Amino acid sequence: MTKRVVLLPGDGIGPEVTAAARRALEAAAKRFDISISLEEHDFGGIAIDNAGDPLPEATRAACLAADAIFLGAVGGPKWDMQEKRPEQGLLALRKALDVYANLRPMRVLPGMEEYSPLKPEIARGADMIIVRELTGGTYFGERVEGRERATDETLYTRGEVERVARVAFETARMRKKKLTSVDKANVMATSRLWRATVNDLHKAEYSDVALSHVLVDAMAMKLIQAPSQFDVILTENMFGDILSDEASVIAGSIGLSPSASLGGGVGLYEPIHGSAPDIAGQDKANPVGSILSIAMMLRHSFGAEEAAKAVENAVEATIEAGARTADLGGKMGCKEAAGAVVERILG
Ligand code: NAD
Ligand code: IPM
Ligand code: MN
Repeated sequence: MTKRVVLLPGDGIGPEVTAAARRALEAAAKRFDISISLEEHDFGGIAIDNAGDPLPEATRAACLAADAIFLGAVGGPKWDMQEKRPEQGLLALRKALDVYANLRPMRVLPGMEEYSPLKPEIARGADMIIVRELTGGTYFGERVEGRERATDETLYTRGEVERVARVAFETARMRKKKLTSVDKANVMATSRLWRATVNDLHKAEYSDVALSHVLVDAMAMKLIQAPSQFDVILTENMFGDILSDEASVIAGSIGLSPSASLGGGVGLYEPIHGSAPDIAGQDKANPVGSILSIAMMLRHSFGAEEAAKAVENAVEATIEAGARTADLGGKMGCKEAAGAVVERILG
């Protein structure tokens, strides 16, 4: 059956990395005989400009009817201080899709240690996956704006914590069976609920997984002190946003990091970086995070493991061959670097 894929290029470098992702998906579909249909829709700042809404009804409907969605990036200085902002569309889309589990893998590729801001011997072997809760917490609590007083409510229920913790335990079972849950239980009530819920689930169903708890401030430290000790990291929405940018750069560039947002049926796939206004429109963006997001789409939405592996292998071989963008010390533009991966996907 034909897989219906919705592409949301968005803003800034979004359209550039989406073009790269599209070529990679088309190449994998051709090589592995997967039937796909592709459609692009306005989303984010461009949708505010064209339709007055970051998530227009037509885009929402197309996403809800899709088999999988790819998003480039949204946002930019143009819309930053407006009442309607591109980021609101992204939160609304994640909520509408109920994609509560956001998987953000990070791996330092062998031979790439010198591109890490950390010492090579510290970066070497780092290979982790952050499972970030994506539809709750401070991002979705009640917000009161104000010039003198403002609040952002942080709310979690046991059910919300349990369902994302289950994804993390299952992920750990398929890897080194090591789970680190990150919270701020020394201060926050939501973190104490988080920790108790994770402990209960561990005891009841996942005692074969080694579980530890780390406070988020210490985690920020340990991530750069000894990143290779971590396997699966489970954390709430806001902490996961911050720690995943930190973790991504250990591999050399935020431009390398993909993500999959799962749970509600339709998967949403996006690189973890933003619209990078400083390099937008210059063909400088690293397309790898987007192409690896396509690998995650092939794996998690289409069950096409062989195709997913082929895309990942193509990316690794391309980087190893020195075909890199400027963020990794290379000379290639986004298009050329994507082309080098696509060639290898086609075999
Ligand atoms: P950013 O991730 O866009 O950029 C941070 C730095 O990383 C910049 O120097 C940028 O040039 C660099 N960078 C990012 N992606 C890169 C790539 N693929 N290749 C090479 N270098 C890359 O973060 P920011 O500047 O804080 O945010 C810019 C805008 O993006 C904001 O409006 C923010 O809200 C939005 N944003 C959107 C998403 C999303 O759509 N999922 C994610 C994060 C930020
Ligand atoms: C991300 C981004 C988003 C987030 C913003 C743009 C709403 O930073 O996907 O990491 O904070 O989740
Ligand atoms: Mn982020």
